[in-house]
Amino acid sequence: MMKTWQAVKRLLPMMTIFGLILAGCGREDLSVLRPQGPAAESSFGLIKLSITIMIVVLLIVFALAAYVMIRFRRKPNQNEIPEQIEGNHRLEILWTVIPLILIVILAIPTVKQVFAAGNDHANDKNAVKVKVTGHQYWWEFQYPDYGVTTAQDLVIPTGKDIAFELETKDVLHSFWVPSLSGKLDTNPAGTINRFSFSAPKEGVYRGKCAELCGPSHGFMEFKVKAVSEEEFKQWIDSMKAPAVLPEDPALAETFKNQCLTCHAVGDQGIANAPNLTGIGSREAIAGILINDDTREDGAPVEENLKTWLHDPQNVKPGNLMPNPKDLGLSDAEIDGIAEYLANYKLD
Ligand code: CUA
Repeated sequence: MMKTWQAVKRLLPMMTIFGLILAGCGREDLSVLRPQGPAAESSFGLIKLSITIMIVVLLIVFALAAYVMIRFRRKPNQNEIPEQIEGNHRLEILWTVIPLILIVILAIPTVKQVFAAGNDHANDKNAVKVKVTGHQYWWEFQYPDYGVTTAQDLVIPTGKDIAFELETKDVLHSFWVPSLSGKLDTNPAGTINRFSFSAPKEGVYRGKCAELCGPSHGFMEFKVKAVSEEEFKQWIDSMKAPAVLPEDPALAETFKNQCLTCHAVGDQGIANAPNLTGIGSREAIAGILINDDTREDGAPVEENLKTWLHDPQNVKPGNLMPNPKDLGLSDAEIDGIAEYLANYKLD
């Protein structure tokens, strides 16, 4: 009795930890187990197939093991050594052939799907082309057919194939939207990886960097926003509208001299850092500060911008954004820019 209790006491913390880890996997928007598009659905199909085969094999092996243990256990007063068997051709062939058949059953749909996933729609006129560039620790999305560049929120029209072209500006990253597709690495310039997926349903899908890329790897998040085709066209139009600068001329000057030397809004600035056009309409600031005060883990966009601008290193350690205070901006100027950016929304 004492021993059982001790075992329970030892196992309890481990079980609690497992429980918590598994609960973490349950986040609806970051799970391959709730596919929201054809690419993710076919991967999920493979997962189900391999798990089914594994469970069947497991049950048969455990049942056989249990049968052998009971059927051939030592009987009372049985003292002689049982008959020694060395090799059994029939059994050996059987346990070689059965796994081979199982591997073939797994291989046929897997290979088929690998080739299907290789269809990158790069030459498909109906596909929307998006160039994805990974940066430590943010994502850049360019739409070459529309001349539009954005960051962190990837806006796509529903139902259309999106032809992705992946690259990185620094180290390896991996582009992954679990509920829509498998992941693909971003390689340094010259080695472009291509793939494609689509989102049939409107919604916001969470994306993650899936390749350890530095101290803020875990914060390298982005969103895929699937909208109707009309909404997508409208989004493109408002992205192309002339830049809006802070109303206060002094603040506009500071913003131009200190921020637009790396960032861009509309047709102004340069593209070394995330494009800020319409940042007030984005799902999150810096990819992780959720702009939704109805959510427990969210806050109003202006508050998130202040959190970020007052100490970017505290939000994402190791990122390249200089602290605005070190650039000589006062607290009032930082708050003013946060307010301006929060109100920079797209119609
Ligand atoms: Cu980028 Cu991990």
